[in-house]
Amino acid sequence: MADTAALVLAAGKGTRMRSDRPKVLQTLLGEHMLSYVLAALRPHFGENVWIVAGHQARMLQTAFPGARFVLQGEQLGTGHALMQALPTLIGAGFERVLVVNGDAPLLSGDVVRAFLEQALGADLAFATLELDAPGAYGRVLREAGRPCAVLEAKDCDAATLERNHEVNAGMYLISLSLAAALLPRVTRANKSGEYYITDLVALAAGGGYSVEAVECGRDESLLGVNSPAELAWMEELLRRRVTDELLLKGVLLHAPDMVRVCPLARVDSGAELTGPCEILGESEIRRGASVASHCVVHDSVIGEDAQVRHFSHLDGARVDAGAIVGPFARLRPGAVLEQASHVGNFVELKNARLGAGAKANHLTYLGDADVGPGANIGAGTITCNYDGRAKHRTKIGEKAFIGSNTALVAPVDVGAGSLVGAGSVITRDVGEGELAIARARQKNLPRQKK
Ligand code: UD1
Ligand code: CA
Repeated sequence: MADTAALVLAAGKGTRMRSDRPKVLQTLLGEHMLSYVLAALRPHFGENVWIVAGHQARMLQTAFPGARFVLQGEQLGTGHALMQALPTLIGAGFERVLVVNGDAPLLSGDVVRAFLEQALGADLAFATLELDAPGAYGRVLREAGRPCAVLEAKDCDAATLERNHEVNAGMYLISLSLAAALLPRVTRANKSGEYYITDLVALAAGGGYSVEAVECGRDESLLGVNSPAELAWMEELLRRRVTDELLLKGVLLHAPDMVRVCPLARVDSGAELTGPCEILGESEIRRGASVASHCVVHDSVIGEDAQVRHFSHLDGARVDAGAIVGPFARLRPGAVLEQASHVGNFVELKNARLGAGAKANHLTYLGDADVGPGANIGAGTITCNYDGRAKHRTKIGEKAFIGSNTALVAPVDVGAGSLVGAGSVITRDVGEGELAIARARQKNLPRQKK
């Protein structure tokens, strides 16, 4: 594939989505539509993938900082988009380009490979689908069985729309010399007033080039997303693909129709998920681990036999083997629960480590904290990690016992085996094995009679 580059068309507004966000930045199972297309191309093209950006290009560049972009200042159609990329691709020494629409999130590496294998000999090849309800897709016209044109639905007469269910899927392999020769002859003489990439088919067929239609049958992987309804439908299709695979490999799913797992996530066989729940990003759920209903797990690792109980929310967290989270816990980025530690209801951790066997079971905030193994954090303990300007760390030693309703004003160290009395405000370090009490002494006075 060294002589072939890939180009993703992603500059369009996606008017039919009625959203300010570029269409390819809409999400399916938590990931941008465009990231699925890029993932399908990467195995074949490596770094040689360019994205045509236009509408809200800055947003696209921010979302994909490592990607290569070509700018299409005005979005004058898919043919115009290819035209903008031509100098870059020819300048980089490529001979051919695989062009795909950026709004096809079900595209897979296998589908791209199968297409390339059949497309390789031709000057211009494009994928076609056979659809029962071809709607707005471009229709393939044939003469004596050979493809001779693609006509957009808008530009077709009623008879063609009725008869012709073979549609253009929006994936093309095009020789760059053909593109350079024929793109200047593409006009805007159509209902949309746009330069259509699809006009290259008729120009190439009429100009003695070899043109191939690669028939992909009813493969849903190539369908485009053009409306919120189509996005919802595709997302559901993708979701079901993932859960079907999980069931096959031996993951236990309760209410599988309500389990949403991102394709980037890894769930080992022998793990157990109960819907409704979401396992998003590059999460990993190991064997024997369970995630109960109403949990969201994003970019987090749940170790073997760990339990994430109902209504917990994890983002960027690591939960080691046998640990217990929730119900109603919140683990934010940098939360680490070492082996067999416990975090209970209404406990929030951020950038904080809970050592093996340590417990914070009720109503607690641990931010920028390091808690030693076997420590016990009483109900209502708060690490005061922010002084209005900077964040500071709290260190709590092994087997320390922090009484209920304690405020630990960071930076502060509480030594191993120490005890902090309930209701304390700790502003100075506590030594190993010491008892610290920092609260007003109780006075019992006679009650004033009115
Ligand atoms: C396009 C095809 C149609 C095909 C269908 C398959 C054309 C003219 N039509 O129609 O034959 O059946 O895909 O899904 O190509 N884009 C740009 N710059 C532009 C315009 C669009 O980059 O100026 C991008 C869009 O962001 C989108 C892709 O090109 O990702 C396709 O555009 P879209 O408007 O969705 O084309 P369709 O009407 O679906
Ligand atoms: Ca489309």
